[in-house]
Amino acid sequence: MRDNDLLVIGGGLIGCSVAWEAAKRGLRVTVLERGEVGSGATYAAGGMLAPLSEADGESPFLELARRSAELYPGFVADLRAAVGIDVEYRTEGTLYLSLSDSDDLELESRYRWQHESGLKVERLTSTELLRLEPALTPETRWALLFPDDRQVNNRRLITAVHEAALASGVVFRTNTAVERLLIDGSDGQSTDGLSIRGVRLDSGSLEANRVVIAAGCWSCRITDAPATGVKPIRGQMIAVRNTSPPVRHVVYSHRGYLIPRLDGRLIAGSTTEEVGFDCRNTAGGIASVLTHAAEMMPAFMNQPIVETWAGLRPRATDHLPILGADPLIRGLIHATGHYRNGILLAPVTARIVGDLLTGVETGIDLIPFSPSRNLPRHHPV
Ligand code: GLY
Repeated sequence: MRDNDLLVIGGGLIGCSVAWEAAKRGLRVTVLERGEVGSGATYAAGGMLAPLSEADGESPFLELARRSAELYPGFVADLRAAVGIDVEYRTEGTLYLSLSDSDDLELESRYRWQHESGLKVERLTSTELLRLEPALTPETRWALLFPDDRQVNNRRLITAVHEAALASGVVFRTNTAVERLLIDGSDGQSTDGLSIRGVRLDSGSLEANRVVIAAGCWSCRITDAPATGVKPIRGQMIAVRNTSPPVRHVVYSHRGYLIPRLDGRLIAGSTTEEVGFDCRNTAGGIASVLTHAAEMMPAFMNQPIVETWAGLRPRATDHLPILGADPLIRGLIHATGHYRNGILLAPVTARIVGDLLTGVETGIDLIPFSPSRNLPRHHPV
């Protein structure tokens, strides 16, 4: 008998959430992580749960993001019940500033479609904005408030989900890179099609008849893994000490964002750079993040620096997640390519993959996220 019902490739928030969900549904799960749990995009993220701030219109992606946002309060409560960790789920909402003529047009268009769609968005004058956040620039012309946006401390979140998964019996193998998938039927002899048999590691192999690829931008490095055309997109970040009184809302402009944390840090992000698997900070990257932070909040530049870091977001060609059963290989499921929204989309991804693994109807149209849209020409058939 095999020791595992399921192998999850990737120990970031998506992989850990999927593993926890699968274990709660009775599966024996092992997570295979090439580094340390949560040390990739999960560590680097900002933790904004903001489906509306970046949305340009109704879309299947926005629908998925809203479903996940709805699941968040339950996800957070389940974590607290399971492992007693407060993941700093905050409800102040997001402020979106207009600082120029082109920002005016952008905010007007967002306000119009979201208001007409019955979504919660409010207009604030500059005076109203400064009453809420006195440290922001008086140069702000006006702003939008998205009162339903949330944020979470992603570093506390991954600790909590990891601990919850461990408590549910999930086995973690860190510093364990998956080299390739093991696929039955790929010799062309089988009449039964292709099915997953396990994975080849740098140190032997592991068998299971279900495998989830949740390895972020590293998904495309797994040999024979089809449908994973994701690229790394670097984001550079800097944290300073928050001001006194502190900024409390997440603050956006079209060019950057500020995220306050309860531990007294104020984070600014981020760049969007296609530079391969290079996750270093650069002087130019940090300079551009600082320019955009100072534009929103001049006082940001007076604050002591606490940390700089960078992460690699996993981006598919069309920027949508790759989510669903592999179209050709039985037992293989994709949960990758979450790009700028991995923290937001973790609960809905875990729910969907849990449903696919246990034969439950997901109730969500997965066609826009189908792995088949990313099939390379050299599929191992
Ligand atoms: N979710 C924000 C970012 O990717 O920069």
